[in-house]
Amino acid sequence: MNSKFLCPEALEIQSSLLYPDSGLIVCDARIKELYPDFFAANQAPTCLIAAGEDAKNLNTVQSLYQFFLRNSLGRSDMVHVFGGGTICDLAAYAVSTYKRGCRLQLYPSTLLAMVDAAIGGKTGINFHNLKNHIGSFYPAERVILHKAFLQTLAPDELRQGMAEMLKAHMLFEELPLPDFTGTEIPDEEDLLAHALYKMSVCQEDPFDKGPRMLLNFGHSFGHALESHSAYRIKHGDAVAAGMNMACDFSLQMNFIDRQQYNARKETLKLYPYPAELLDYMQSIGFEELYPYLIQDKKNGANLRLILPVGAEIKLVELNEV
Ligand SMILES: NC(=O)c1ccc[n+]([C@@H]2O[C@H](COP(=O)([O-])OP(=O)(O)OC[C@H]3O[C@@H](n4cnc5c(N)ncnc54)[C@H](O)[C@@H]3O)[C@@H](O)[C@H]2O)c1
Repeated sequence: MNSKFLCPEALEIQSSLLYPDSGLIVCDARIKELYPDFFAANQAPTCLIAAGEDAKNLNTVQSLYQFFLRNSLGRSDMVHVFGGGTICDLAAYAVSTYKRGCRLQLYPSTLLAMVDAAIGGKTGINFHNLKNHIGSFYPAERVILHKAFLQTLAPDELRQGMAEMLKAHMLFEELPLPDFTGTEIPDEEDLLAHALYKMSVCQEDPFDKGPRMLLNFGHSFGHALESHSAYRIKHGDAVAAGMNMACDFSLQMNFIDRQQYNARKETLKLYPYPAELLDYMQSIGFEELYPYLIQDKKNGANLRLILPVGAEIKLVELNEV
């Protein structure tokens, strides 16, 4: 991977989006439908894909390779990708492996992709029901943030991105919190602050072996909730709930005192948890999630969790819980 693209200069806000004047376009079919005027200028060959977890598979990758081949994509040609996290992950993976890597530019269209998925170079597809099991590290040359895309995003999709912003704020308090009270979309300054934060963590730790792992705060419990609910609970909601569970767990293990616990919970309370999630969380106990937590452990024999410890949030290895 080319980690020279993991830098603040690779991020750009474009208030009026410029239509790509060369290369190929891979686009979430919904985006093309919602922004017909922008794509009316269509000169570049375009491949449309229906977004969603189901698209992240080897068959779709193969159809992208065929699209690249039909259009004689060379290693020095640019692929412009418009879409949320699923399309960015998928298309970036295809671009990273086609002819051992072509040029890549991402135009994330969901809040989650703008502040998280499009930044840091992790690409991926699912394999045998295993999420992001196949992938590469391949940062885009440029990630273009166009806030206006968020105007058409459904409120529950907007909330998924806000959950990642909440997580980033928990890790780095200087980052602004989004407005959880309404459906106000974050302003450009806040978007850029969050995107730059993710970029700086990835720049410091491109291969996810050190501080980048902290970005998984809330994710172990969150993944357990997602799996246990057979993915009825959306990822961002699950992460928000997962951060609460991590705090509960830390209190139980005496990693934090009551005052530290209350302070963290006060911030987490701001998130607009959907009623279905609250009901679900009340209906299950830690014991039911434990097998999923064990499955989620990434390396070694120990359970590794990102947890509040004192005033910090840290990676903790536990032999047994
Ligand atoms: N690579 C990474 O570092 C990283 C980090 C976090 C998440 N992810 C991945 O991101 C994916 C989730 O991304 P997502 O939440 O963006 O999901 P998504 O791409 O499925 O988009 C969600 C929905 O919003 C629609 N949509 C997209 N942009 C829109 C717009 N501007 N207006 C209206 N509708 C729009 C899509 O068509 C889709 O129906 C997961 O697969 C996850 O694994 C990757």
